[in-house]
Parts: sequence; C-alpha cells; structure tokens
Amino acid sequence: MQSVAKLLEDDITPVAQGAPVVLIVEDDLNMRELVVNVLQKSSVDMKLIPMDSPQHALHFLENHEVGVVLTDLRMPAVDGLQVLEFAKGCNELTQVVLFTGYGTVETAVAALKKGAFDYIRKPFDNVELCSTVEHAVQHYVLSRDNRSLREQNQALSEGMDLIGQSDSMQQVQRLIGSAAAYDCSVFISGKSGSGKELVARQIHMQSKRREGPFVALNCAAIQENLIESELFGYRKGAFTGAEKAKPGLFEVANGGTIFLDEINNASLSLQAKLMRVLQDGSFYPVGDIKPCAVDVRVLAATNRNAAELIENGELREDLYYRLTVMEIRVPSLRERREDIPLLTYHFLDKYSKGFGKVVKSVSTEVLSALMQYSWPGNVRELENVIQRMMILTRTEQLDIDVLPAELVQNQQMMNRAIDYMEPQTLEEIEIYFIKKTLADTGSDRALCAQILGIDKSTLWRKIKRYNLEETDESVPA
Ligand SMILES: Nc1ncnc2c1ncn2[C@@H]1O[C@H](COP(=O)(O)OP(=O)(O)OP(=O)(O)O)[C@@H](O)[C@H]1O
Ligand SMILES: [Mg+2]
Repeated sequence: MQSVAKLLEDDITPVAQGAPVVLIVEDDLNMRELVVNVLQKSSVDMKLIPMDSPQHALHFLENHEVGVVLTDLRMPAVDGLQVLEFAKGCNELTQVVLFTGYGTVETAVAALKKGAFDYIRKPFDNVELCSTVEHAVQHYVLSRDNRSLREQNQALSEGMDLIGQSDSMQQVQRLIGSAAAYDCSVFISGKSGSGKELVARQIHMQSKRREGPFVALNCAAIQENLIESELFGYRKGAFTGAEKAKPGLFEVANGGTIFLDEINNASLSLQAKLMRVLQDGSFYPVGDIKPCAVDVRVLAATNRNAAELIENGELREDLYYRLTVMEIRVPSLRERREDIPLLTYHFLDKYSKGFGKVVKSVSTEVLSALMQYSWPGNVRELENVIQRMMILTRTEQLDIDVLPAELVQNQQMMNRAIDYMEPQTLEEIEIYFIKKTLADTGSDRALCAQILGIDKSTLWRKIKRYNLEETDESVPA
C-alpha cells in the first residue's frame, strides 16, 4: 500500500483535472485487490485509489476532490457511516457506496437515508459491483459538470445584460419576461450577431430553471454527422473510436435549458429526433437501445427566414411549430440605431474592466460614424469595433484616428462631418445631436428623425424629456 504522501505526489495532481477519483477503503488486502481488478476492466473513466485504512481515507478526502468512495461498512475504529458523513461534509457531490456483510443490511439502508448512493452485499457479484460503481461515477460527473456550468452561468450572467432602450428592444424584454414565466419552447429569430444567444440566456436566467445549467450548441459550428452524438451522447462501442461512453448535452443540461442555435443545420433525421425529445422528454444515446429521459427546456434559433427554410425543406415544419410556442424576433441594429450610444458605452465599460485600460468616452465624430454605419454584423460587429478601437487608442477617449476604415469611408460618404466637442455624459451627447440636427433641418422633425435613424415618436419623446422645444438659441456652434 502506498503512503498517502506518496499518492499525493504521484497521482493526485494530474488526476484532479481528469478522470474522477474512486477511493476504495478496505482493510482486507485480498478483497482490495479483487475490487481493483474488477473495476479496472470498466469502460467508464475512473482513477482507482486503494486505501488500507479509513483514517488514511479521511485524510485523503479532506485534501482532494473524490468522485466516489467505496467503503466497507464494518471496519475497526472508524466505520463506513462515519466515512460517509465525513465524505459528504468535505464535498456534497462525492458519492458513497457501501459494502455490507450479512446482518448489516439494515444499517446500509439507514446509510442510504443519510445520502449514500447505494450498497453492495458481500460476497459481491463482479458485474453488480462494476455497474454500481459506474453509475455512481456517472452521477458524480454529471453533478460536477452541472455545478461548474451553474458557476459559469453565474459568472457569465454578470456581464450579460441585454442593453437597449429602443421601443423594439423594450418589446423584446417584455417577451423575455413572458417566456421566462412559462416553461415553453421558444423560437428566436434575428440576423447574425443581433443577440439571439443573449436573449436565450436571459430567458434562462429569469426562469425557474436559473439554478440549472444553460447549455448552448451552435449547430453550424460542428459537422452535421457529429451533432447527434454531441447532443445525445453515445455508449461505448457505438462507432469506431467510441472507447468510452460519453453523456450528451441533453444529459448535461438536465434540469436546465438547452439553446440550439442555427437549428436548420441539423439534418432532417436529427430534427425528427429532436421532435421526440420535445414530445416525450426522452432520446436514445447513439448505440443504446434504452431511451434516456431528461427534463430540459429547449430554445432554438436561426438567422434565416423560417418560412423559406421550411419551403426549401431545410427545417421540418412540425419541429418549427413545436418549437414556436413563443417566437421572439431580435431586431437588427440598424433598425434601432438609438441603442448604439448605450451599447457603445456598455462595451467601453465592459472592456475597460477586461483590458485593465481606462477608456472613458467616445468623440462626437466617432459616435456620429457609429450611428450612421449599417452594421451588417449587428451588435457583435459593434462590440468588435469598440474592442479594436480600445486596443489601438492611446488616450482615454476613442477618437477618429482609431476608427476603422470602413466606418470613416461611410461617414465621408454621408458627408455629415460634425463639429468636434468634448462629450461629458451620454445624455449630453444625445442632446447635442438632437439640437444640432434640428437646427440643420430647420426644425423639420421628420427629417431630423430620419437622419438620426430613430422613429418620430422616439424623437418627440426625447425633445420633451430634454425640454428642447426652443432649440434656436441653444444650437451648438
Ligand atoms: N442587446 C445587447 N446588449 C449587450 N450585448 C449584446 C446585445 N446583443 C448582442 N450582444 C453581444 O453581441 C455578441 C453577439 O451576440 P449573440 O451571440 O447573442 O448573437 P447571435 O444573434 O446569437 O449571433 P449568431 O447568429 O452569429 O449566432 C455577444 O458578445 C453579445 O454579448
Ligand atoms: Mg448565436
């Protein structure tokens, strides 16, 4: 038997990031070796660590992440129940399987109530031992993945606000609220980079599933023939190279939400299988004959026109209607230009923190160029442009010298160079632009709204809010 210190050096550091540790606590040498021999043949990834005494095991549990503890119930000094309590105290995700002899089954049942995963009677059957430990390992892996996804989600959600005050984005916010309140499927449409995934995340974060995982798969990002195994997982030997079983994303997302982006990239036969999950909540892992049941909410999206996709035979009509209990259309950025300043300052703030480089403002010329550009790549493109400018700038303000060429050209084409000013706040910039444009257009509100890329009612509200009725004397120079 290796000493604990030796185990620490040799095995544990690399193991902690890979296969889950299975701790075998058994004082009888022959029995220990037998258990190790049986479990070594398992197809499930696990790292076996035999221990000859519960004291060593407790010390080990205190200092390492252990997936499964396989312990004898009756041992001198420390018994299996104490090991169970200790293991759960160290890490509630650790699964404990107990060996029981005759006469100890009742205690084993009591152990189940205290959170043990299962018990195995001695003398044990090799197949039963193997499958019980495999289940315990899989249970541990799934709950560990689930926890880390939850933590990632929490971290991600902090920088995941859906920015936008335009009428159309307020409508999107309202629909997100309704979608979050009901556990229904939602179909999200919108051009590339418009924020469909962010909308899906918001639905998840505002729903009762928020504590569960959020899993996103872009069906266009992986080969069509791999999507199925990615979603549904596979069993050992399902195809050449499948040496170990792998759970699919539906299993990982159990209790939470799965977001399938660019759903039309899934083959029609896979779309039929997705229908089944939506109808019965179950699917067949590749190479398995038993269905696997899950509780997952499905959100799907496409950046193409759904009607056209159906007509071209790229999207199953029945799947589309099944998914579209609710539909949310995310507007393109050029349809809501009034959100550009807010988004710009949001990204300044986000990347000032991320880059550790303080950029406080954007020059009026730059903001004007951002407002006029057509944004074929939508918010993602705006985010990239801001990031690029923040990397290039040497001052605390983004100025025309770091503006990408396509935006400079665009601005020249529009021939609407405006006077330079030092903006203080976002509101002041907005007031400045409205005053200036009203003056330039002789207070023609329709034309003014058109130039600013907002609708007339929005302009009217802003004029009222900022009290800009009398613009003549206050027009900036
Ligand atoms: N309203 C918004 N507020 C803040 N950030 C946004 C907003 N919309 C989009 N973004 C950001 O823009 C980027 C692209 O968004 P997202 O991935 O949600 O777009 P998408 O519509 O799913 O794109 P694709 O069609 O290419 O998959 C992300 O970094 C996202 O955080
Ligand atoms: Mg997306």
